[in-house]
Amino acid sequence: MQITFIGGGNMATAIIGGLVKQDDHRIHVVDPNSDKLAELARDFGVTTGNALPETLGADDIVVLAVKPQQLREVCQTLSSRLNGGMVLSIAAGIRVDAMARWLGSERIVRVMPNTPAMVGKGVSGLFAGAAVGEQDRESAETIMQAAGITVWLKDEVGIDDITCVSGSGPAYVFYFIESMIEAARQVGFDEAEARRLVLATFDGAVELARQSPLPVATLRTNVMSKGGTTERAIARFEAEGVKAAIVAGAMDCRDRSIEMGQQLSQD
Ligand SMILES: NC(=O)c1ccc[n+]([C@@H]2O[C@H](COP(=O)([O-])OP(=O)(O)OC[C@H]3O[C@@H](n4cnc5c(N)ncnc54)[C@H](OP(=O)(O)O)[C@@H]3O)[C@@H](O)[C@H]2O)c1
Repeated sequence: MQITFIGGGNMATAIIGGLVKQDDHRIHVVDPNSDKLAELARDFGVTTGNALPETLGADDIVVLAVKPQQLREVCQTLSSRLNGGMVLSIAAGIRVDAMARWLGSERIVRVMPNTPAMVGKGVSGLFAGAAVGEQDRESAETIMQAAGITVWLKDEVGIDDITCVSGSGPAYVFYFIESMIEAARQVGFDEAEARRLVLATFDGAVELARQSPLPVATLRTNVMSKGGTTERAIARFEAEGVKAAIVAGAMDCRDRSIEMGQQLSQD
C-alpha cells in the first residue's frame, strides 16, 4: 500500500513502527517539524515532507494523525489533492459527516486507538463511512493491526462506546496501578521495588485471566478465602463503591465523548 501519514507524532510513529515490519508498504509522512521527520526517516526508512504532496493517487491511503483542532484545516487543504483515495482518521472527536464535508469525500474510516499502540498492544475501534468498500476495510484493518487488535463498530456512536472502554481505559488502569504503588510505599517498599511488584502483579493477573477458562469474577473470589486478608480488602472496595465509581466514570467518559463530537464536528 502507498500510505501518507499527515502528522508524524506519537500515534503515527506507533503505527508506522508496526507497518514497516511488514516490509510491504510505501510510507510517506508529512509534518511541519523537520527534526521529527529526520528521526522517522532514520528509524523507519520512510520518505518525508513538510507539506502535503500536490496530488495523491486514487489508490493512496491518507492517515490523518493530527490533533483534532488541526483536522479541519488539514482536510480543507487535502480536499483538492485527494483524487478519491481512502482517508483514515485517528483524530478523537471528529465525526465522519464533518470530515466528509471538509474533504468532499465519504470514503472515510474513523478510528479510536489507544496509547498501548506505542508498544504494539493497542486496541482500535473502527467505523466505516457509507462509501467504504470491503477492500478499504481490509486496508484500514492492516494499518491499525500494525499497532494491536482491531474491532469494527456498526455505528458511529460505537466510537463513543469504545472510547469509554479501551480509548480512555489505559488511564483507568494507570490510576489503579498508581493506587497500588501508593499502598506498597505506605507499607515500606521503596519506589523502584513498589513499581516492580505492582507491575508484575498486574501482568500476572492479566495473563492468568487471559489463559484461564474461568470468569474474571471467579478468579477474584478464588483468592478470597472466608474471613481472610483479600476478603477484607475487597469488602472495603465494595463499601466505598469502587466498582460502581469506575462504571460511572466510564459512562461520564462516554457522555463527554458524545459532547466533544458535537462541538468539534460543527462547521
Ligand atoms: N485514544 C487515545 O488514547 C489516543 C491516543 C493518542 C492519539 N489519539 C488521537 O491521535 C491523534 C494524533 O495524536 P498524537 O498524540 O500522535 O499527536 P501529536 O504527537 O501532537 O502529533 C500530531 C503531529 O501533527 C503535526 N501537525 C500539525 N499540523 C499539521 C499539518 N497541517 N500537517 C501535518 N502535520 C501537522 C504536529 O506538529 P506540531 O506539533 O508542530 O503541531 C504533530 O507533530 C490525535 O488526534 C488524537 O486525538 C488518540
